[in-house]
This record gives sequence, structure tokens and C-alpha cells, in this order.
Amino acid sequence: MKLSTHARVEFGISSAYIQYSRSGPEMLGECHAMSRAEITTPEVLSEESVVELSLRPQRLEEFIGQQKVKDNLQLAIDAALARGEPLDHAIFYGPPGLGKTTLAELIARELRVNIRTTSGPALEKPGDLVGTLTNLRSGDILFIDEIHRLRPVIEEFLYPAMEDYKIDIRLSEGPKAQTITMPIERFTLIGATTRFGMLTPPMRARFGIEQRLNYYSPEDLELIVRRTGDVLKVVIETAGAKEIARRSRGTPRVANRLLRRVRDYAQVRADGVITEDVARAALAMLDVDQFGLDDMDGRILRAIIEKFDGGPVGVATISAALGEDASTLEEVYEPFLVQQGFLQRTPRGRVATPMAYRHFGYAPPAVAAEQVALF
Ligand SMILES: Nc1ncnc2c1ncn2[C@@H]1O[C@H](COP(=O)(O)OP(=O)(O)OP(=O)(O)O)[C@@H](O)[C@H]1O
Ligand SMILES: [Mg+2]
Repeated sequence: MKLSTHARVEFGISSAYIQYSRSGPEMLGECHAMSRAEITTPEVLSEESVVELSLRPQRLEEFIGQQKVKDNLQLAIDAALARGEPLDHAIFYGPPGLGKTTLAELIARELRVNIRTTSGPALEKPGDLVGTLTNLRSGDILFIDEIHRLRPVIEEFLYPAMEDYKIDIRLSEGPKAQTITMPIERFTLIGATTRFGMLTPPMRARFGIEQRLNYYSPEDLELIVRRTGDVLKVVIETAGAKEIARRSRGTPRVANRLLRRVRDYAQVRADGVITEDVARAALAMLDVDQFGLDDMDGRILRAIIEKFDGGPVGVATISAALGEDASTLEEVYEPFLVQQGFLQRTPRGRVATPMAYRHFGYAPPAVAAEQVALF
């Protein structure tokens, strides 16, 4: 579940913020019994939150890939700085582990403003935000992670804050409660979500900057692996970096995790250098699929092939067959499978590609091959 991402979230007025410890213990070398799904999950594992902090790019120019997103942000940042105005409210969305939180933090650094971090599920009542909002200075950033999980009362409390920079404070409970309106400084709200479709339309409409993060190419992931290797001071040969990049599910978080595991292997079983052979042997030992597919990916593709003749089959039907929420399938699992060429979304439904057939040891049907040739 997503909440495990932020193991340190506590509830209440002053503690509704994620407390990142900057000096926590180094947990790299520890051995973990890790299932295959765990090693390739795009979500952050609880012991990783500390190490991730040290791996985050600090400046926009250090942020690898996502060129279009970076160009748009650079422009918005330059314009805001030139005008001396706060940045427009911004929302980042896309699968886990692609850099949404990283972007929010580096924007604050680029703008030289403070950033306060909280998350949708951590906010119980408007009161939880009053202190923060009234303490923000002009241009400061309020970062709300998992913004699709905000309660309706919090959303409504935020609308006037975002639009007119004022908040309504209730002085007592009940229907006749008195409220006072307080002005706040012009701040920037940055939201992040893995489930853009679950955001309410009025909330969505209030963001001037809307950026989708996509899966990274193997080339970009290779650069990320090399950069992380430099930070961790581990020697990686090009072919070794490529091998790790290829199996990282298009996700920097997974790339960094695999690199750390492979490094352990290299240090214990080899001379510390990550060569192609070392990377292969380590990844095989960790049971990382050649394409980084995990258990759920496999279940989806096999269901389409085995139960629905390879498709086309509607997402609602797949959802029923697997007992997984349709919008989760659409927003969390399918984009990766589509990007990797295992699945196609057609007007008539989902189709397993010949590559998916072969991957699971089936001969691709002639029809499927023809259909695929049409695209
Ligand atoms: N473009 C990038 N270049 C280098 N490293 C990156 C990049 N994007 C992400 N990372 C690394 O991947 C890790 C995960 O990134 P981040 O926490 O920002 O993802 P996220 O999109 O916020 O994930 P979640 O949806 O789980 O909150 C970070 O530790 C960071 O080091
Ligand atoms: Mg995040």
C-alpha cells in the first residue's frame, strides 16, 4: 500500500508533515530476503527512504531525461524569477519512482524558496494546514504528495488558498460556526500523484503547470545508473550499467535499487567492479526478469493470452478476471507493458503482442501477428 512509502507520517496538527531524517543509518549493506516483486517494485521500500535522499539530483540540470518536462519547468522557473512572482501551482503525475518528489524539491532549490511537504492521507482536517499556510512566505512551496487522496473538506479549504491566497478558519464546530477569513502569502502548491484520473476536476483545473512523467529510456536509465554509481563510489563498466538499466522497468528508483544490490554482489563475490558478467550473475540471483516484469505484469499478460485468446479484451473484463481495480490496471500496470511492447491498447480492447506470447513460451497466433502489423 502507498502509505508504507512514508513510514514516518504521523497524524495531528504539528506532525502532519513527513519527517525525513537526514542522518539516518546507512542501510545499504544489509541483506534482505527480497521477493522478485519486491526487488522490481516501483514503489519505495521502507528501508530505502533514507538512501533515496542522498541519490536525489539537487538541480534541474542534474535531473536526467524527461527533456520536455525539464524544458517546460525551466521556462516557468525563469519567468517566475524574472517577474519576481511565485511559480504557478504545478502538478506532476505518472507512475511511482519516476521523479515527482525529486522535481518538487529541486524546483524549490532553483527558486531559492522553502518547501514544506505533506501528503493527502496525512491531512485529516483543514486545521492541519492552517499553521503551515499562514507560515509560508511569498513564493514558498507547499508540496502535497498523493494529492488524489485529499479529503473533500481539505480540497475545499485549499481552493480559496490557491486562487485568492486566503483561508477560511472556523472558530467553532457546528452549522452556525463563525468563520474568519485570513490572507496568506502568495505560495505555490505542487501536487504529485500516481493516479491523475482520481483527481477531482475542480482540483485539476487549479494547476497552471501540469506535467506527466513517462518511463525512462534505457539510455537515460544507464546515465542514472552511472550517476548513482558515482555517488556510491562504485566502479561500473558500460556493459554492466546497460544490463542494469535494461531490467529497471523504465524506473529510476528500480535502477538505483538494482545497482545497490548488484554492488553488494560485486563486493562479496567479485572484486567490486560491476562488469557485464557480474551484473548478469547478480540479477539472475536476484530473480530479476530480463525485462523487469513482475508477478502482476505476468498475471495480466497470461490472463489475456490464456483466458481471452490474446484479446482484444476490455479492461473491465481483465479487471474482473484478476480481481484488480480497473483504473489501477490502466494507470499503474498497463503503461509499462505498453511501453515495453507487450501490450497494445486498441479501440476494441487490450491485445497481447507476439512478444508477450513468446515471453511466456507460447507461439503467437497468426491473427495477433497480423493485427499488430496494422499499427
Ligand atoms: N531524472 C532522474 N535522474 C536521476 N535520478 C532520478 C531521476 N528521477 C528519479 N530519480 C531517483 O529515483 C528515486 C525516486 O524518485 P522520486 O522519489 O522523486 O519518485 P516519485 O515519482 O516521487 O515516486 P512516488 O510516486 O513513489 O512518490 C530518487 O531517489 C531519485 O534519486
Ligand atoms: Mg514521491
